[in-house]
Amino acid sequence: MPSLSESLAEQLRNPRGPAGRLVGAAMRLVNREPISLAVEALDVRDDDDILELGFGPGEGIRALARLSRRGIIHGVDQSATMLAQASARNRAAARDGRIQLRRAPFDETGLPDRSIDKILAVNVAYFWSDGPRVLAELDRVLRPGGRISVYVTDASAMARWTFTASGRHRLFGAAELRALLSTGPFHGAGISVRPVTLRLGLRGLIAVVDKRCGGSGGRSRTSAAAFDNLA
Ligand SMILES: C[S@@+](CC[C@H](N)C(=O)[O-])C[C@H]1O[C@@H](n2cnc3c(N)ncnc32)[C@H](O)[C@@H]1O
Repeated sequence: MPSLSESLAEQLRNPRGPAGRLVGAAMRLVNREPISLAVEALDVRDDDDILELGFGPGEGIRALARLSRRGIIHGVDQSATMLAQASARNRAAARDGRIQLRRAPFDETGLPDRSIDKILAVNVAYFWSDGPRVLAELDRVLRPGGRISVYVTDASAMARWTFTASGRHRLFGAAELRALLSTGPFHGAGISVRPVTLRLGLRGLIAVVDKRCGGSGGRSRTSAAAFDNLA
C-alpha cells in the first residue's frame, strides 16, 4: 500500500481519477505565479506558435492563448484527467482552433519539425526521466531562433517536501538545471538560469534557452543573455 506521500508524488506525475482531479484543482491555484513568471520569460508575440509540455489543468495554455492571438497553442500531457480539465478550461479557444491539446509523452509530441516558436515547461522537468531524449524532441519541433522557458522549484525547497522522497521527482539546483539544458542539441545555445522567489518565500528557478538562428534568421528578439541582465 503506497503512503500518502507516495500517492501524492504519483498524482503530481500522472494525475488520475478523483484524486487526480483534486490535485489538478490545487495545481491550478498554486502554480499560477510560476506559470506567469515562465510565460513572461518567453516574450510571447502575437503570432507565436507555442507548445506547452505537461499542461496539467490548463492555466499555462490559457495564459499563452491570451498573448498569442494569431498563433496556435499546442499542449501535450500524458494524463487523460488533465486533458479533460485543460480542455474544459479552454473550451472557447479550442472551439476556434487556436488551442490543440493532446495526450502524448514529452518525447513524442507528434508535432511537425520546426513548427513551434516558443516552448513552456513549468514543473515538468522533474519528470524528464530521459532528459536528452526530451531535449532532442524539443529541438526537433523548435524553429531556429525559438525559445524555451523552464520553471522548477529549487531543490533546496523541494527536498523539504516529503513527497519527493519517493524518488519520482528529479531535483534541480541552478547548476543541475543548466547542465541538463546544455547537453545535446542545445550545447552552445544561449542559456540563462536565474533564481526567483515566489510569494510565501518559495525559491524557484527560471531557465531560458534560445535556439540558434542558424542561417535562416530567427524570430526571437531577446536573447537569454539579455534576459540574464534583466534579472
Ligand atoms: C506537476 S504537473 C504540472 C502541471 C502544470 N505545468 C502546472 O505547473 O500546473 C506535471 C504534469 O506533467 C505531466 N507529465 C508527467 N510526465 C509526463 C510525460 N512523460 N509525458 C507527458 N506528460 C507528463 C503530468 O501528467 C502532469 O499533468
